[in-house]
Amino acid sequence: MRRLAVLGFPIEFSRSPAIHNTAFAALGMEGEWSYEAIEVPPDRFAERVRAMQGEGFVGANVTVPHKGAALLVSDRRSGVAREIGAANTLIFEDDEIRAENTDARGLMEALPESPAGRRALVLGAGGAARAVVWALTREGAEVSVWNRTGDRAAQLCAELGGEAVSDPAAGDYELIVNSTSVGLRGEDPFDELPLSRDWFGFSQTVVDLVYGHGDSKLLGVAGEAGATVVDGLEVLVRQGAASFRIWTGVDPPLDVMRDAARA
Ligand code: ATR
Repeated sequence: MRRLAVLGFPIEFSRSPAIHNTAFAALGMEGEWSYEAIEVPPDRFAERVRAMQGEGFVGANVTVPHKGAALLVSDRRSGVAREIGAANTLIFEDDEIRAENTDARGLMEALPESPAGRRALVLGAGGAARAVVWALTREGAEVSVWNRTGDRAAQLCAELGGEAVSDPAAGDYELIVNSTSVGLRGEDPFDELPLSRDWFGFSQTVVDLVYGHGDSKLLGVAGEAGATVVDGLEVLVRQGAASFRIWTGVDPPLDVMRDAARA
């Protein structure tokens, strides 16, 4: 059995085991591959990862709060993971731990069209925002970054590109990505973020990376105004599909994975 897992803290609500195990079953690979969730606190993370290859694991996904630590524990890093400063995918091979980041690709594949030349507003300056800014600037979007703590936005832009803004103006943006954690605990995005309910319209795409606390209030309002909306589960499925391809070399069954994520 080739074992895979997602490591996080907490991890009980992760949709990744369902996404991957349903994909294995759909492809008749379930006798050979398995995917589980492992809760591991930050102070045990490196030790846990180093033990995995000896236990039959060939790879892992890594989620909050371990994506930075995953990069540090690895022996080899892809250029993307190094530049973003975080890894969400580990590959155990030949006694080596390889680090990869599929979050950026997951976002790009979830977008309905290329962001090249588009004005984009990224909210947040944490680990999730870094992958978003990296992806959008690479694709040629004109990126503005707002963060509650302005210094972090300035620091992120100095490293990855984009322009830090303190007071983003309504209607200026064709693409808006919420990569803060606002909404995760039911917070109101219109209270916490520099967004107004009358901002949205047909020409926009709005992405909310937060999922899990019912429907996204942000996407509800944006969608009602005619914007194209992309939710965090779609991005999760796309990054998972990219990781799946890396580990197995097999084309991931996207529709099956999407249904499993939403079941
Ligand atoms: P992740 O790795 O998931 O991005 P993180 O690094 O802890 O997590 O980043 C969380 C992001 O959400 C940050 O941009 C944070 O803003 P600060 O840098 O000011 O802390 C943002 N965030 C969290 N709660 C927020 C709130 N109530 N209002 C606005 N932004 C918030």
